Amino acid sequence: MLPRQVISAGPLVLRPPSAEDVDAIVRTCNDPLTQRFLPLLPSPYGRQDAEAYLKSAPDQCAEFAITRDGAYVGAIGLRAPDPHGSAEMGYLVAPWARGRDVAGTAARAVAEWALDQGLQRVELQAEVENVASLRVAYKAGFSEEGRRRDAKVLRDGRRADVVTFGRVHRDSGEPAEQYLPLFPGGELSDGVVRLTPIAIEDAADYHRMMREPSVAAYSVGLEGTLEDDERRMRSTGYWWVSGQRVELAVRDAASGAFAGHLQLAQVAPMFGQAMVGYSLVPEFRGRGFMTRAVNLLVEWAFANTALRRIVAGTDPSNLASHKVLTRAGFSREGVQREFFPAQDGTYADDVEWLRLRPKNV
Ligand SMILES: CC(C)(COP(=O)(O)OP(=O)(O)OC[C@H]1O[C@@H](n2cnc3c(N)ncnc32)[C@H](O)[C@@H]1OP(=O)(O)O)[C@@H](O)C(=O)NCCC(=O)NCCS
Repeated sequence: MLPRQVISAGPLVLRPPSAEDVDAIVRTCNDPLTQRFLPLLPSPYGRQDAEAYLKSAPDQCAEFAITRDGAYVGAIGLRAPDPHGSAEMGYLVAPWARGRDVAGTAARAVAEWALDQGLQRVELQAEVENVASLRVAYKAGFSEEGRRRDAKVLRDGRRADVVTFGRVHRDSGEPAEQYLPLFPGGELSDGVVRLTPIAIEDAADYHRMMREPSVAAYSVGLEGTLEDDERRMRSTGYWWVSGQRVELAVRDAASGAFAGHLQLAQVAPMFGQAMVGYSLVPEFRGRGFMTRAVNLLVEWAFANTALRRIVAGTDPSNLASHKVLTRAGFSREGVQREFFPAQDGTYADDVEWLRLRPKNV
C-alpha cells in the first residue's frame, strides 16, 4: 500500500474519496459511457455500491477522488503492485467534467507520484474502442506496449481487445506526438462527398463492397469474414490516434449513404510518407466521387500533418483508378514489376504514383 496522500495537479486536487462524494460517484458510475467501458461495475450502480467502494478504498494500493474547486470530478487508483514492482492504473471521469484534460492531468500526476514512491512500472490498459482513454495514455506520457486480443469480456459476452501502455523511470514523460490529428469537427466535406471515420455501423456495407467482383479483382488479402471486418472497424479509432492509419467511409454528402472506403495507410513518419487506397460502390462510380475524396484527404494531410509524400499503387489495367489519381494531382513515378499478389497466384505489376507536398504548405 502506498501512503494516503493528497496530490496537487494543476487545477486538480487528488484526495482520498469520502462520504461526501457518494452522490457524484453514483451518477458517474451509472453514466452510459462508464457502464460501457467498465463492465465489471454493478449495473445499475446504487448507493450501497458507492459505500462498499469507499469502505474498500483504504485497502487499495492507492485510490483518489479527483476534485476541482472542491467538487468530485472523477476517480483514479492503482492496483496492488506485482512482485516485480509493476502496478496497474484505472480511472474514470464524471460525465460533466469530460474533455477538459481531467484524466490526462490526473494520470500523469499519479504515474509520476507512483514512480517517486519506488514503483518500477505503472501500467494502463484501454479497450481498443475507448479512444478517449487511449488519448489519455498518450497525453500522460505512457508508451504503447502491445495489444492483448480478446482480453476483456463485455456485458453482452463479446470479447474485446485491450491496448496496454506502460511508464517506467527512464521515460521522458513527454506526451506522445499525435502524428495524425483527428478531423476538425469530425469529418471533411466539399459539399458533394463527405469523409467520416469508418465505424462499426459501416462494416456490412464495407464487407459487401469489398467482395464485389470489380473491387475484389484489385484488392489484396480478402479472406476475411464479416466478423473480421467488424473487428477491423472497431480498431479504426485506435489506428488513427496511434498514428498508424486513417480509415474513412466516403459518403454521398446529400444523403449520407455509404459510397466507398478511403484509407491513408503505410504511414512512415521517418520518410514523411503514406499511401492512399480506395474503393467505390458501383452505384456511385462515374461521378468524380473518389477524385474529390482523395483530393480532400491529401489536402488535409498536407495542411495538418508532417506528411510530404502521398503515394499510391495501382494495377496497370485499372484505368479508372489511374484517372482518379491523375485528376487528384498525382504523377506517375514508375513500375514495380511483379508486386501485387493476384487472385490466380501470379504477381501483377504495380504502377506507382506520387503527390508531393507543395513547397509553400
Ligand atoms: C476515459 C475518460 C476517463 C477520459 O476522461 P477525460 O477527462 O474526458 O479525458 P481527457 O479530457 O484528459 O482526454 C480525453 C481525450 O480524448 C478525446 N476524445 C474523447 N472522446 C473521443 C472520441 N470519441 N474520439 C476521439 N477522441 C475522443 C478528447 O478530445 C481528449 O483528447 P484531446 O485532449 O487531445 O482533445 C472518460 O471518458 C471516462 O470516464 N470514460 C468512462 C470510464 C473509462 O473509460 N475509464 C477508462 C477505462 S481504461
